[in-house]
Amino acid sequence: GPTLRALAARADVRIGTAVNMDALASDTPYREHVAREFNTVTAENVMKWEATEPQRGAHDWAAADQLVDFARANRQLVRGHTLVWHNQNPSWVTEGDFSSAELRQILKKHIQDEVRHFKGRIWHWDVANEIFTDDGQWRNTIWLEKLGPGYVADALRWAHQADPKARLYLNDYNVEGINAKSTAYYNLIKQLRSEGVPVHGFGIQGHLGVQYGFPGQVLENLQRFDALGVETAFTEVDVRMPMPADATKLQAQAFAYSALLQACLLARKCVSYTVWGFTDKYSWVPDWFEGEGAANLLDENYGPKPAHAAVSSTLTLA
Ligand code: G3I
Repeated sequence: GPTLRALAARADVRIGTAVNMDALASDTPYREHVAREFNTVTAENVMKWEATEPQRGAHDWAAADQLVDFARANRQLVRGHTLVWHNQNPSWVTEGDFSSAELRQILKKHIQDEVRHFKGRIWHWDVANEIFTDDGQWRNTIWLEKLGPGYVADALRWAHQADPKARLYLNDYNVEGINAKSTAYYNLIKQLRSEGVPVHGFGIQGHLGVQYGFPGQVLENLQRFDALGVETAFTEVDVRMPMPADATKLQAQAFAYSALLQACLLARKCVSYTVWGFTDKYSWVPDWFEGEGAANLLDENYGPKPAHAAVSSTLTLA
């Protein structure tokens, strides 16, 4: 059948995947699928700070450059992931004994070095990742503690200076429906826009599990960002399940993949739908959730699961 990217192009939405750079280098079918099926890519790990500046002042862009070159060769846009986060920071940052003023300069330099390095080649930057807790409070991180909540506006302004054309996103999980956390983003983004801070989009990760049911009011959530004039994107969709998989779980998974995509197609300003990996051969899920897995569109042998057919037919009908 037609590729997902061909169907998505007709439906006027972008379809993407996170890319595991070890798999891209070593696994030919993996590489062929990424090139053929998707028209945007996100680095699963190699653009994170621990990867790009493992020692202070010693940048390693090699793996990230490879992905950006691959994307260009395959006419794909790149979602840059991620500049400010509480995970996967280099130990020289988290274990260093810096004053607030020093840490602010270190963060600014990191953001501007990275955004400048890729200037003109990144479509969206996930500037700040996972800044709120599920109850809609500021997450207690080194950035909040040392710099205060203004670090988010600062990060957005610094990124915008370094690449004025990149679209700047805040990104999080458990924000698919209307809830305390997604409302905290709605309020923050509204506030930032009223202050003229460059923020263009809200990234909704979309890490779901069939055992939790499907979140309520997903379309209504996207529509309130539409009304603010802010883009949205599903950025890390996967739908895990308690193992072993069975037909009912796979059907619930297919429903969830398709329902998120439908919401994106129905909202005015939802620009892309990215899956966090596309084959069960490579997935963060079994490492993080004991006894769970099978979260992706294809099985471990690249065979299509019901979720693949569901995504494909949702795009076909659009
Ligand atoms: O690179 C090291 C390697 O040197 C070491 O030998 C090996 C042994 O543990 O670990 C490797 O690092 C791993 C890294 O992935 C790269 O493969 C880490 O242990 C592992 O924890 C890390 O997991 C990543 C996770 O983020 C960490 O926070 C996952 O691959 C990645 O899929 C996941 O992605 C996040 C998004 O960025 C944000 N949203 C949630 C999503 C899922 O957690």
